[in-house]
Amino acid sequence: MCGIVAYIGNRDAYPILIKGLQRLEYRGYDSAGVALINKSGNLNVYKRKGKVSDLLSFVEKKDTSGTVGIGHTRWATHGEPNDVNSHPHYSQSKNLVMIHNGIIENYAAIKERLIKKGHVFESETDTEVLIHLIEDVQKNENTKMGYAVQAALKQVIGAYAIVLLDKNDPDVIVAAKKGSPMVIGIGHDDFFVASDASPIIEYTKNVVYLEDEQVVVLRKGHEIKIRNLKDKEVTPYIQKLTLELESIEKGGYAHFMLKEIYEQPRSVLDSMRGRINATTGEIKMGGIVDHEKKFEKAKRIIFLACGTSWHAGLVGEYLFEEFARVPVEVEYASEFRYRNPIIYEDDIVIAISQSGETADTLAAVELAKSKGATVLGVCNVVGSSIARATHGGSYTHAGPEIGVASTKAFTAQVTVLTLMALHMAKVRGTLTESRYRQLLYELETIPTKIEEVLKLNDQLYKIATKYKDCRNALYLGRGVSFPVALEGALKLKEISYIHAEGYPAAEMKHGPIALIDEEMPVFVIATKGANYEKVVSNIQEVKARKGKITAVVTFGDKEVKAMADDLIEIPETDEFLVPLISVIPLQLLSYHIAVLRGCNVDQPRNLAKSVTVE
Ligand code: G6P
Repeated sequence: MCGIVAYIGNRDAYPILIKGLQRLEYRGYDSAGVALINKSGNLNVYKRKGKVSDLLSFVEKKDTSGTVGIGHTRWATHGEPNDVNSHPHYSQSKNLVMIHNGIIENYAAIKERLIKKGHVFESETDTEVLIHLIEDVQKNENTKMGYAVQAALKQVIGAYAIVLLDKNDPDVIVAAKKGSPMVIGIGHDDFFVASDASPIIEYTKNVVYLEDEQVVVLRKGHEIKIRNLKDKEVTPYIQKLTLELESIEKGGYAHFMLKEIYEQPRSVLDSMRGRINATTGEIKMGGIVDHEKKFEKAKRIIFLACGTSWHAGLVGEYLFEEFARVPVEVEYASEFRYRNPIIYEDDIVIAISQSGETADTLAAVELAKSKGATVLGVCNVVGSSIARATHGGSYTHAGPEIGVASTKAFTAQVTVLTLMALHMAKVRGTLTESRYRQLLYELETIPTKIEEVLKLNDQLYKIATKYKDCRNALYLGRGVSFPVALEGALKLKEISYIHAEGYPAAEMKHGPIALIDEEMPVFVIATKGANYEKVVSNIQEVKARKGKITAVVTFGDKEVKAMADDLIEIPETDEFLVPLISVIPLQLLSYHIAVLRGCNVDQPRNLAKSVTVE
């Protein structure tokens, strides 16, 4: 969380920083700030509680000139979101300024030490402590900023991506990272630094992804210089970005979330493209090919994930157990990493993460690796920390997801997990050839079926107008539709702030049934399949207590139609593939309800897209 952006070169830095911050705002949006050094050598720092737009109004008519600058958008960890705690932060002399993404865990001890030496702190942040420490080292050792950063970071426990400016040396930017992402853009005669490539792509496609414990010195007119904390020079590995500008813009949609919901026919297709051939019965996944023997022999699969990705893992549990007949555990990464989990060498651990940067998932991956398991990744962001930390895996080709509430990443994850489960089934011989082929053919029809579901948008808007003022909502599903119920409820609470719970339909009578009255909307996934009749009984139980039923059913359903207040009819598909299409109306419903309530759909309060703190 927190977005950082920096520029040094010959252009005006301010517009680059602001545009960059707007692109990074998904990473945090409780305050924003910039620091620029102008031609006369003055260091101007402007920061404000609120969004980048608040910063823009605050800065209007102030001096924003300068060809070197840093910018930050914050998601508070230490200290409440206010003007003082916003970044950038000054050093004691106010000659250095710094922005930071991450958490310095031992900041309190360092702060105490510095206070004893006479340092005075303005904010409650760990960031201010770090920049004071860097200056302290710089003064004591009488060294250049790059070395001072190296030396100071050796004293630090925690995660960071930092960028610094020095008023007395305006031709240089120093940056470093550990555990938080950082990418350096290399232009003709300028450099860019950012938390992801989105602020950079319109200026250059040449980038270097900084590795942990590396410090980079970007000096105007010089080559990029990277050293690690052991003071060893590192040769920069320059990569070409494949990201396109259009993919990170709204393209005529009111919100990124809506655009991303509508992108799903393509993103699901892209996640299968080149990997599946129903005619030959082949599934090719480059990133797992080296692990086929492990797939054959694995005694257990463990999914590690957080949030929506955890729900994708739950769908995966049904798929892997059904198709590949392998026991599956789905773990919250944050819980897994702080237990003493039992992991065997013949376990396959699969980390699922859209961003590939979630701190808990990354730490859980490292733990599983240290215990000898084969660890694979299902990530969306190419080159992300989890993608790099795992032994192999498969990318979801959903394209950049910017709306904080995850939509297309979920369906892309489920698509890739389906392919993996089918591939594992093939390797282990646990499905008949005809069932295997039938599933492959059916999977290929999913993008078209998603298109059909998207046509229900007007109907879903109408249903949303009915429930926009509700205070609670219940989502029910059974079998593979249970995780979809969880995901539907998560979508609603994330963006509309309505309390919502997802429940296995049969469990309802052990608690949530007490909440049901004529005010309570109940969204049920009741598509055709083995559990259909059971779910119909659950619907009756809700009706008997005057609950309002909106049911997602298979096209042509008559039984539920007779009971439901609203019916959302979706195309028929194999019951194990239903999540890929039944989640779409739930995403659209949440979207419309949130918009009708006047909520900020793309940037819901208190949430961030990429949670790089534990
Ligand atoms: C945050 C996001 C969620 C996401 C979760 C896990 O909470 O707001 O949308 O599902 O992190 O993120 P990951 O990038 O690991 O999938």
